[in-house]
Amino acid sequence: MSAHDAVEVIIAKRDGHDLSDSQIDWVVDAYTRGDVADEQMSALAMAILLNGMDRREISRWTAAMIASGERMDFSRLSRPTADKHSTGGVGDKITLPLAPLVAACGVAVPQLSGRGLGHTGGTLDKLEAIPGWRASLSNDEMLDQLESVGAVICAAGDGLAPADKKLYALRDVTGTVEAIPLIASSIMSKKIAEGTSALVLDVKVGSGAFMKDAARARELAETMVALGTDAGVRTVALLTDMETPLGRTAGNGVEVAESVDVLADGGPSDVVELTLALAREMLAGAGRDDVDPADRLADGSAMDAWRRMVSAQGGDPDADLPRARHTHDVAAPSSGVLTRLDAMAVGLAAWRLGAGRARKEDPVQAGAGVVWHARPGDRVTEGRPLLTLHTDDESRFERALESLEGGFEVTDGAGFEPRPLVIDRVD
Ligand code: URA
Repeated sequence: MSAHDAVEVIIAKRDGHDLSDSQIDWVVDAYTRGDVADEQMSALAMAILLNGMDRREISRWTAAMIASGERMDFSRLSRPTADKHSTGGVGDKITLPLAPLVAACGVAVPQLSGRGLGHTGGTLDKLEAIPGWRASLSNDEMLDQLESVGAVICAAGDGLAPADKKLYALRDVTGTVEAIPLIASSIMSKKIAEGTSALVLDVKVGSGAFMKDAARARELAETMVALGTDAGVRTVALLTDMETPLGRTAGNGVEVAESVDVLADGGPSDVVELTLALAREMLAGAGRDDVDPADRLADGSAMDAWRRMVSAQGGDPDADLPRARHTHDVAAPSSGVLTRLDAMAVGLAAWRLGAGRARKEDPVQAGAGVVWHARPGDRVTEGRPLLTLHTDDESRFERALESLEGGFEVTDGAGFEPRPLVIDRVD
């Protein structure tokens, strides 16, 4: 006979009680094995969303999800490890320059990434724009590449936190994605199972983010930092702005090109600023705050690490990136200062142009996306291109243009205050 039954656990949380360690261990394991049905787990997820969980419960839930699969072990690497997780935003290509940059500073970066869904892009989709590059590596290949190159960005294998895979898919269709205990345990179970010793979380706040308001973003950040710390992973979080999209591009190939600009010691200043801020946190977490990552951008060693990282996974770092067959310019409606460019509007436009997918199985266009020629605070001239839309399928322009309606503002600039990129730090 089993220790618990699903209805008892659902009722406990429905009535606002804390779940015991044994109830949590049992329900996560039984759900993963198929002994707790989807409809029962949906009811429990909704009860958690409505009634919450305390720190012990979230910690135990996370541990149970980790225990549902394998744990990676990087202890035989000759250098320390550090990883970064972003809660997702528009134009957020930071992982691409960051992983090789931190590797060039002597810290190994095991970055298990995902594909995009909805208006935020996926790191793997971006890298797959590079001809030949492959996302799937075995654990041994990953370890070898971490030793030889120092950075790997690849798809998370099925063995990592399978309970989360199943639960996340269920939450997606039952209106229970937004529960902070479930988001925090979902993200952190994968990061802890991945075996990094230091972790930096980039928790996005604003229109283009998962968390629209700062108070909830901070609660998520604090919950995840506590989970990491409890599990022995040195964890800090930065709360960063996602009202405005990052850099000047949103899409796949266009974001790779912008990342390469950053690695060549150029690129948009906000992408450079955030890449360096996150790199410094990762290096500090890994005990290497004696190295200045800005030097590694300037001396070309971060670019060398990028080239080796791409080549190690079959990609050709010198190949031309795919270009979309059609482009369409959106002109500035008047002359003045661009005072607002809305991340959600740009993200939706890029998605509708074919850079993202609506369903997990959909393909993405490598060349599709949005390029903007000004950032908030820049002067613009009436009739000159403000944004350029890229797609292989001209029929997509109309819907993309609709999503940009009301998504930017040009004024005389009076009262314009630039938004800080890094809003706060949680440790
Ligand atoms: N990303 C995850 O991996 N899990 C969540 O629950 C939300 C975002």
